[in-house]
Amino acid sequence: MYNQKVLEAFAHPQNVGEIENPDGEGTVGNATCGDIMRITLRIENDVIKDAKFQTFGCAAAIATSSTATQMVIGMTVDEALKLTNARVVEELEGLPPQKIHCSVLAEEAIKKAIEDYRAKQQGKNIDKSNVEYV
Ligand code: FES
Repeated sequence: MYNQKVLEAFAHPQNVGEIENPDGEGTVGNATCGDIMRITLRIENDVIKDAKFQTFGCAAAIATSSTATQMVIGMTVDEALKLTNARVVEELEGLPPQKIHCSVLAEEAIKKAIEDYRAKQQGKNIDKSNVEYV
């Protein structure tokens, strides 16, 4: 079902965990399966220096989050906002069609974390108690 690259990313995921006092954090749920993804970011001068993820998700969610976090480290926040789940899936050389929805979690959680970062910069505080289902 999964290709070798996805299996490798699942078996040895990178950037698992949580950044303490993150500059941005985002949690989203998947409306299809109910799984949840949380991304925390360390951002300096609009450049993502570190990204970590935690998930209650499947192998595809873990593989795509590992890959997405690796891809956004070093990007500016504007570049990271343009990262699509399709690009992450391409990096992993494909996912089974029924698993594409799992790859949306990382994209959306990264976007939400950047939204949180920008809100904090403007002195606003986003209510993070509700999980948004995408
Ligand atoms: Fe829920 Fe994959 S089945 S994230």
